[in-house]
Amino acid sequence: MQDLKELNEVITAIKEEIRQGADALTTSKSVYEFKKTFLDNKQGRIGLLMKEMRNVANDQKAEFGKTINGAKEWANNFFDELDQKLKEKEQQQRYESEKIDITMPPVKIRYGNLHPVTTVRNQLTDIFTSMGFEVYEGTEIETDYYNFTALNTPQDHPARDMQDTFYLSPEFLLRTQTSAGQVEAKKPPIKVVSPGKVFRSDDDATHSPMFSQMEGLVVDEGITLCDLKGMLDMFVQRIFGKQTKTRLRPSYFPFTEPSVEVDVSCFQCGGKGCRLCKETGWIEVLGAGVVNKKVLENCGIDSNKYSGFAFGLGLERIAMLKYGINNIKMLFESDLRVLDQIDD
Ligand code: PHE
Repeated sequence: MQDLKELNEVITAIKEEIRQGADALTTSKSVYEFKKTFLDNKQGRIGLLMKEMRNVANDQKAEFGKTINGAKEWANNFFDELDQKLKEKEQQQRYESEKIDITMPPVKIRYGNLHPVTTVRNQLTDIFTSMGFEVYEGTEIETDYYNFTALNTPQDHPARDMQDTFYLSPEFLLRTQTSAGQVEAKKPPIKVVSPGKVFRSDDDATHSPMFSQMEGLVVDEGITLCDLKGMLDMFVQRIFGKQTKTRLRPSYFPFTEPSVEVDVSCFQCGGKGCRLCKETGWIEVLGAGVVNKKVLENCGIDSNKYSGFAFGLGLERIAMLKYGINNIKMLFESDLRVLDQIDD
């Protein structure tokens, strides 16, 4: 190559080659590689044109050099612009692919919650401890004496039939009621609740061979049935709602005299009558009474000086009423479809 004319022709051809080659480039990296073939100082095709300088006449050398530098500048700008465009396109594509659809429903995180019976037990314990009760847990294996005899239900007593149970030996049994705790309590003044599992030979939609009770016992000077009623009123209002009333019906338990069955006004219909209360307006929730003098004496407590009341309620029954469960077995089956709906 010897003159400017020829150089210009070569440069025009290179430019055309660059423009055409650029159409096929899609990434910033490929632009870099392609650019190198033209602009690399040692091997780039534009750079190499400088070597032709020696064949050019002296008076044309300056113009020749300028033309090559002009071509270099053009190519640099061309590639810079192309690079910029592709980078923007790449970024746009990345934004698209990483786009988060904030209208998608979230993945539900499953978390555990307490079993309804545990929840009821905790709620009741809170209520009673706030009234000054201590919590005492007896043992699930009990002696026949503490479970029955000391509670005024000796061997031949017909009331034993109501609470047939599982005997481990003639002496030991699975307790049928947390009332056994009454006998184990300390000296008066006594104010305890005793939650725990109890066992009976019982099995239908509302009874289970194993269930949970909470027993309450208050012994002090001058305790009467009125104290029981007052305490129960407060208790049921806190667990079933402010409007709830109580009603005492005469009943029989060997260890209380008088004995009562405690009903609450139906918290679903407010007393008008509905399916839950079997159209009566009342729901039976617990058994209670004034502690039989014989039981106090069996515990070595002076029954002329002290008196007391006791009550016992079934935790599953309270849970069933509170959460609208009609079969006690549902509370033991650990069916997540049921348990998931109960979150208090
Ligand atoms: N122990 C009785 C029962 O299980 C309930 C009860 C407790 C009744 C305390 C009166 C006093 O049926």
